[in-house]
Amino acid sequence: MEILNIICFSFLFLVVHARNECSSRICGKDTVVIRFPFRLQGQQPQNCGYPGFDLSCGGQISKTILNIPYSGDFWVRDINYLLQEIQLYDPNGCLPSRLLSLNLSSSPFMAAYYKNFTFLSCPTEIVRNQLTTIHCLSNSTTSVLASSSINLAKAMNICSIIVTLPIPLSQPVQDDQWLSSNLNADLRLTWNVPSCEDCEAKGGICGIDNSNSEQILCFDNPRTVKAGPLVLLIIAVALAAPGVTCSVGLLFYICMESRRLRRQSANRAAQNSTIAPAQPGTSPAAGLDDSSIETYRKIVLGESRRLPGPNGVMCPICLADYHPNDTIRCIPECEHCYHSDCIDEWLRMQNTCPVCRNSPSPNRGSM
Ligand SMILES: *[C@@H]1O[C@H](CO)[C@@H](O)[C@H](O)[C@H]1NC(C)=O
Ligand SMILES: *[C@@H]1O[C@H](CO)[C@@H](O)[C@H](O)[C@H]1NC(C)=O
Ligand SMILES: *[C@@H]1O[C@H](CO)[C@@H](O)[C@H](O)[C@H]1NC(C)=O
Repeated sequence: MEILNIICFSFLFLVVHARNECSSRICGKDTVVIRFPFRLQGQQPQNCGYPGFDLSCGGQISKTILNIPYSGDFWVRDINYLLQEIQLYDPNGCLPSRLLSLNLSSSPFMAAYYKNFTFLSCPTEIVRNQLTTIHCLSNSTTSVLASSSINLAKAMNICSIIVTLPIPLSQPVQDDQWLSSNLNADLRLTWNVPSCEDCEAKGGICGIDNSNSEQILCFDNPRTVKAGPLVLLIIAVALAAPGVTCSVGLLFYICMESRRLRRQSANRAAQNSTIAPAQPGTSPAAGLDDSSIETYRKIVLGESRRLPGPNGVMCPICLADYHPNDTIRCIPECEHCYHSDCIDEWLRMQNTCPVCRNSPSPNRGSM
């Protein structure tokens, strides 16, 4: 009897121990599951993860942290192991400031797309309430904006250009972000190596081959595939063994495992439900082609600089005053007018009036 007990104990210990070393981890009450190719630095041996994929737990509320060399710490919102994508945000809530100094050259991560954005520094008193600024980089005297259109940025001659640099994006930008404050959306980065999509798609988990650390193997995910037979085997042994300790240990193990599974699926459900409603807002805004734009009325300002309709003395796009001989173009429906260079650039990206947001009807010009 004693011997059977010992065998059972050793068996359980081996199973739990082997799983434990590299099994999934979670920081505190965070929802991010850490597993291969990631590992929890300091708590799991090197061979549980892939180089460059070390995470740590930190902060008062125990957040999952990724350190990007030369770019500092980011908090991890989510990891999608199937798509090989990690979603990051700035602990201080100012991702644009982090993007200005982001350097991914020494990390395994990259963005799916890049788009050049020009950062502008403008007097706050002029741009206030007119344009979307990057709040966390602005103060009472200076406001910072970002534009994906270098032409528009250059046209805004009351502002000075800080820098133009490629900003990592997870999807091709719809050019409606002409003056963007959307740079505060989470940073989504992907990785190509190690490539575990096929393994993940089959329900497995990648891992390093212990006999050859260069080699990546696909293991059955103990949580889904082998849990059944393995647990049955342990139960059979446990039933045969009279030791109560063994069964208690087993029960504890199964309990913890099912709690973990429930928690994971609850998290997943919660995430799915928060993602869904966000979609409608991001429908692509189509721009107009040049021939449609050309049908809108163009005027050259005289010495009086008087504009038709409800228009001020300043172009709402570039915020510069109108001058005699400036070429102006007006949107037919609402009669809002702009420098023709400014509005042409805008209409190529988005078919709405920048001031009132009404769409010029597409056929209007040709009628
Ligand atoms: C990024 O960091 C590397 C050093 O790892 C450096 O050589 C490179 O110039 C940096 N790139 C930028 C854009 O700062
Ligand atoms: C960004 O601008 C640089 C320099 O003008 C250019 O070489 C690069 O191709 C641009 N990148 C993108 C993604 O447009
Ligand atoms: C606002 O920011 C600018 C540039 O970042 C700085 O030069 C200026 O001193 C700041 N002004 C105040 C009132 O903080």
